[in-house]
Amino acid sequence: MKQELDKLKTQVTDELKKADTMASLTDLEVKYLGRNGLLTQHLRNIKDLPESERKNAGQSLNVLKNDLENLFTHKKAILEKKDLEESLKEEFFDITMPGTLNGKTPELGTIHVLSQLQEETENIFSQMGFTIADGPEIESEYYNFESLNVPKDHPARDMQDTFFIKEKRHDHHGRLVLRTQTSPGQVRTMEKYGAPLRVILPGRVFRNEATDARHEHTFNQIEGLLIDKDISIATLKGIMKEFLSRLFGKEVLVRFRPGYFPFVEPGLELDFSCLLCEAKGCRVCKNTGWVEFMGSGMVHEHVLRAGGIDPKEYQGWAFGFGLERLAMMRYGISDIRLFNSGDLRFIKQF
Ligand code: PHE
Repeated sequence: MKQELDKLKTQVTDELKKADTMASLTDLEVKYLGRNGLLTQHLRNIKDLPESERKNAGQSLNVLKNDLENLFTHKKAILEKKDLEESLKEEFFDITMPGTLNGKTPELGTIHVLSQLQEETENIFSQMGFTIADGPEIESEYYNFESLNVPKDHPARDMQDTFFIKEKRHDHHGRLVLRTQTSPGQVRTMEKYGAPLRVILPGRVFRNEATDARHEHTFNQIEGLLIDKDISIATLKGIMKEFLSRLFGKEVLVRFRPGYFPFVEPGLELDFSCLLCEAKGCRVCKNTGWVEFMGSGMVHEHVLRAGGIDPKEYQGWAFGFGLERLAMMRYGISDIRLFNSGDLRFIKQF
């Protein structure tokens, strides 16, 4: 028996030396250690031996089995290393090549022009020390109107045609609406962070109105809010001039006109100099040299109070502009409905 096992071991060692591929190694493993392998058969035969020999035979077979397994593991590691070295030598794999799917190169997507513009806006404002926040698209009547100094039955509610949610009401804040503006974020951030505060709130807003080349039921706004001590309109003008000039990469002029929004006092409309005609007058600026850009003003004291801020101690300004407007101006897009059209011919241009 012992001789037989020694012979088996020498045989395996010799054959292993000759094996120079993974495939031949696997064959050998099956031949000796597999379910019907030579060693396995020996192990199976133990039960037929006379009882006095069984124990010894079992022990020597187990020792052999261990030895063989070690030999195989060792050889496997050598072959794997060899394989890897060879394939590294042969294959040059250019990871910068576009992948293919069923022989075709898949088309690359693009980031939507509005997302790009939003990101640029966020970058510029965060460089100027603003935090970026957001609020819910389904808003309570309280935050969308009341907290912004628009009480129930106030005529200003008609300024923005509202989508109401029929099925559900807010527990203690009235009906639920699709927010008509990002301004509810003003009171929400005041409540959350207190004063001083410097924040922009980008978001989707909704209005129940007929669409045309200049109106959409769903569009994007960026709200801005700055609250601190000794704040005046001058800082708003400076910040907006700086923002627009950085965004367009050249000097942009801004001007204020009086405007009305219930949550600011005084309320102001801000225009910027038309970039398409260098303020000489064209179709886009209706020959005025100026483009209407956004609503703004000093935050109304009722709004500060709603946000838990003492108007005697702090003042602030707020603004809100439409991202689509800005994109239309920047790229000369003539129809606002293109943004949500999903038309790839439009989307891929940016
Ligand atoms: N929320 C206003 C709108 O949607 C814009 C605005 C924001 C005006 C902040 C003043 C201050 O038209």
